[in-house]
Parts: sequence; C-alpha cells; structure tokens
Amino acid sequence: MQSAPIPEQKRRDSHEKEHGDAVRVMFDRIAPTYDALNRVMSLGVDVRWRKRAVRELESAPPGPILDLCAGTLDLSKLVSERMPDRELTAADFSAEMLELGRNKAPRARRVVCDAMELPFPDGSFAGIIAGFGIRNVSKTELCAKEARRVLKKGGLFVTLEFFKPESLRAKAFHGVYARAVLPTVGAAISGERSAYAYLAESMQGFLTRRAYEDVLRNAGFTNVRGYDLLLGIASIVIAEVAP
Ligand SMILES: C[S@@+](CC[C@H](N)C(=O)[O-])C[C@H]1O[C@@H](n2cnc3c(N)ncnc32)[C@H](O)[C@@H]1O
Repeated sequence: MQSAPIPEQKRRDSHEKEHGDAVRVMFDRIAPTYDALNRVMSLGVDVRWRKRAVRELESAPPGPILDLCAGTLDLSKLVSERMPDRELTAADFSAEMLELGRNKAPRARRVVCDAMELPFPDGSFAGIIAGFGIRNVSKTELCAKEARRVLKKGGLFVTLEFFKPESLRAKAFHGVYARAVLPTVGAAISGERSAYAYLAESMQGFLTRRAYEDVLRNAGFTNVRGYDLLLGIASIVIAEVAP
C-alpha cells in the first residue's frame, strides 16, 4: 500500500523537530566540558561581554528575570550577583546543562523547556537575557514572539550573541576561529569534534545583527537597538516592550 504524501508544512515541522532534538542531545553531550572550553576559547573575554549584557538588563522595570537558553547558568550567576532582589528563572531545553550549572546560581528556578514554547503565562517577566543561545534555536521568529509574550509592558529583552559577521575584520576572525580553532580545540577538550564544528557553523549561518533586530521589531518589540563588541565578534541587542 502506498502511503499518503506528507504535506510540505508537516515535512518542515518534523525536520525542525529533528534538528531541535539533535541540538538538545548535542548540548547534553558537551555539557560536562562546556564551561572549560568557553573559558579557554574566549580567554575570559566572554565574562566581560556577559557583565556588559547584565548591566543593560539592570534597566528592566521591577519584577522577575528570565535567563533564556541559560545553559550552565553563567548569566544567571551574574544576574544573581548584580540583581539580588529579583526572582530569577533559568530556562533551557538541555536538562544536563542546567543541572551542571545549578551551583552557580542556587536561587534560580531551573526550568527545562523549549524557547519556542515557553511554559510561562503572558507578562510573567520584567526582563529576559539570552546569551549565545538564540542562534541555536531552530525558529528565531517563534522564539522572539515567545520572549515578547512572556514579558510584561515596559519589559526588556537583552540578547548577547555571535551574529553573522558583516565587517571584513569580523568575517576574517569568524572564519579562522569557527573553521579551524573552535572544532580543533573543542575536539581536544571534549572529544566531540562534530559538536564544535556544528557550533562553529551556527555562528556563520545565523542572522546578521541588523536582520535579528528586524525579527524583534516584527515580533512586536519597540526601541530595538544593538551594538558590537570587540570589532563585531559578538554583539548586544536590546529590545523593549512598549509601556
Ligand atoms: C552556547 S549555549 C549558551 C549557554 C549560556 N547562555 C551561556 O551564556 O553560556 C546555548 C544553549 O542554548 C540552549 N538551547 C538551544 N536551543 C534551545 C531551545 N530551542 N530551547 C531552549 N534552549 C535551547 C542549549 O541547550 C544550550 O544550553
């Protein structure tokens, strides 16, 4: 018997689900070595970038904070320190990453969930921070809409990310770093060359900062603005929900 053809949308949905599952499994696998590799690869610069992103988040109105795609809670830790009176939730679809980071921000509520389908009511948070995670989410638009939905009026969304580089210098750096350094050092530290090759590729294949800013505007955010860090290697984007 011949099976009925699968409609295009269904095919795409199932492909994206498979992609999402593969990314989640990959993060579960590299979780034990993720922190060590981060520090080695960035020579500690990422800590400065994270602090800068958290400083931006400090202008969020009073209320709870969500660390989206929280990984091993590096940003949650900084939020805990800099904004000690805020309720804090760390969300990630890799239970392993959240578990490994639990001691960094013990007061953070850890929630295993998909950034494209957040299990929080509308307007739950005053601020969201997402560090180096959005580019791994298979549908950026859906993730942006969910971030917009769970923020209350006046809420702030801060993204720290490696966007697709635009300047020649950033392109050159990303080329060498992503194609050669990251997979090689990643393999040496974790034995997971393919995982780090994927992470490297996700840096090249993601949106430019400007294109991401448009995605946020289309999702209903206002006053969207961004700036580059260290010659455009990483960037911060800030978006608001109208009061
Ligand atoms: C490169 S790590 C960054 C972690 C952390 N925010 C940091 O600053 O180090 C990306 C994280 O995004 C998570 N992630 C990717 N896609 C996701 C999705 N659709 N929903 C929830 N988490 C996701 C991964 O599990 C991983 O922990």
